[in-house]
Amino acid sequence: MTFNLDDSWISKTKQSSMRQLRRLPVVEELFRVNRLIARGKHADGLPSLDPPMAGLFGKIVRDGIERLPIEELGVPFEATLAAAHKHVETLRRGGGEPIDKHSTHIATRDLVSTPEPYVFGLSPRVLDFVERYIGMPVDYLGVDIKREKVNSAEDGVRLWHFDVEDARMVRFIVYLDDVDESCGPFECIQAAGSDEFRKVTRYVWGDRYSSSTVESLVTPASRYKGVGSMHSVHVFDGVRLLHRAGLPTARDRYSMTFSFASKEAYFAFQSARETQAAFVNRWGSMLDARQRQAVAPPPGAATPRWADALQVTTRVFLRRDLRTPEGQRGGSRAAANDS
Ligand SMILES: [Fe+2]
Repeated sequence: MTFNLDDSWISKTKQSSMRQLRRLPVVEELFRVNRLIARGKHADGLPSLDPPMAGLFGKIVRDGIERLPIEELGVPFEATLAAAHKHVETLRRGGGEPIDKHSTHIATRDLVSTPEPYVFGLSPRVLDFVERYIGMPVDYLGVDIKREKVNSAEDGVRLWHFDVEDARMVRFIVYLDDVDESCGPFECIQAAGSDEFRKVTRYVWGDRYSSSTVESLVTPASRYKGVGSMHSVHVFDGVRLLHRAGLPTARDRYSMTFSFASKEAYFAFQSARETQAAFVNRWGSMLDARQRQAVAPPPGAATPRWADALQVTTRVFLRRDLRTPEGQRGGSRAAANDS
């Protein structure tokens, strides 16, 4: 059952326990079979795709990654980009919330001050594509707009990793400026190379890797550097692909990421739930039934009241939270944006 990952003792314990359990191959196999069954149950309800979206679908199934101009998504985008660039100006002026030592993000209250850019991720064509790929009802985790700063810090999403929230995920990274090698572009290892990497390293759910480790084990041919012009889009599945946010060396990078999982994800970041609630509270009347469903948290996702009480009591005695697994340092919003 999906849970919300916040800074509480109980959600971190859940995640830590899951990581320990998933060291056992039999547990991984149970997760895999359980997901196959869930996808099978939903197979008859999947939306069909028109030829352009079917082409994109095929590329993501094969390689796990595709880059294309935003126009080729076939979704109205002008209002989305206009709203996004206003936020970029805020970030350029030094505004936004610092999440770690290398990035600042637009705060939730500002993200939902207008319907765009958030509502772009609820476009029917986007939801159709994501549902078809994930194979299950979609949980729209929202949009994140950020400035990735020039510095040499290699931690958080700058370490090589596989996303861990679900069995399949889709992210759309939209560049809001031209991104060349000096901006630290999004990087990944295409599907075949990532599969091989998992085997060689005996990957355990949540593991992260330094650049030197990846460079010693991956051939340059399978390494993808996502340079791209302003408004190019990278569509990818970060669960299948080993990936990271590159380190800008000369210019800061500005990007916007839309994220999607299934309604049966292992967990979701609390920040995504808060943004969903804030958006629905302000703009819910403009959504149809399917869109409302996409931003409704799965049943049981909220932390129960007794757990909150237990957490407060425990903190009094322990004075600190348990450590999070290596794969999720940084609290309830870390790793929400990989671009
Ligand atoms: Fe990631």
